[in-house]
Amino acid sequence: MKIMVINGPNLNMLGIREKNIYGTKSYDGICNEIKIKAEEKNHDIDIFQSNIEGEIINLIHKAYFEKYDGIIINPGAYTHYSIAIYDALKSIDIKVIEVHLSNIHQREEFRHKSVTAPACIGQICGFGHYGYILAIDALENYTD
Ligand code: DQA
Repeated sequence: MKIMVINGPNLNMLGIREKNIYGTKSYDGICNEIKIKAEEKNHDIDIFQSNIEGEIINLIHKAYFEKYDGIIINPGAYTHYSIAIYDALKSIDIKVIEVHLSNIHQREEFRHKSVTAPACIGQICGFGHYGYILAIDALENYTD
C-alpha cells in the first residue's frame, strides 16, 4: 500500500512537550519506527508534519491526486475544531485512520470531541506512538 502519515500542530515537539502525556520518544524517533515497520510490511510510506491548517488540507488533496491507498492522520488540536480538515477528508475516497497518542477521552472535556473522526474509518487513541503501527495494521485489514 501507498500510505501517507500526516501529523498536525505541535507533534514535531514530541519528546520535548508534556512527556508525562506523550512520552519521551522524539518525533524523529517515532517517524523512524513507523518507517521501519511499514518497510517490513512492504508499504510505501511518506510522513509529513505541519503546524499549519492549510498545509494539512493540501496534503490531504495531494494524497488524492497522487493516488495514496491510505492516510493515517493525527490532526493534533485541529481534531477538536477544524471543519476544514473534516471537509478535506470527506472530499476524498481514501481510507483514513485517525490516531492520537493520548487517550483524548480521559483528558479535558474539550478534547473528548473529534470533529474529524466522523470522516475516518475509525480512531485509535491512548496507545502512544504504537497507535501509528496499529493504524498500519488497521489499514491493511479493513474491508468495507
Ligand atoms: C493529540 C491530542 C490532542 O488533543 C492534542 O491537541 C495534541 C495531540 C494526541 O496525539 O494525543 O496535540 O492529538
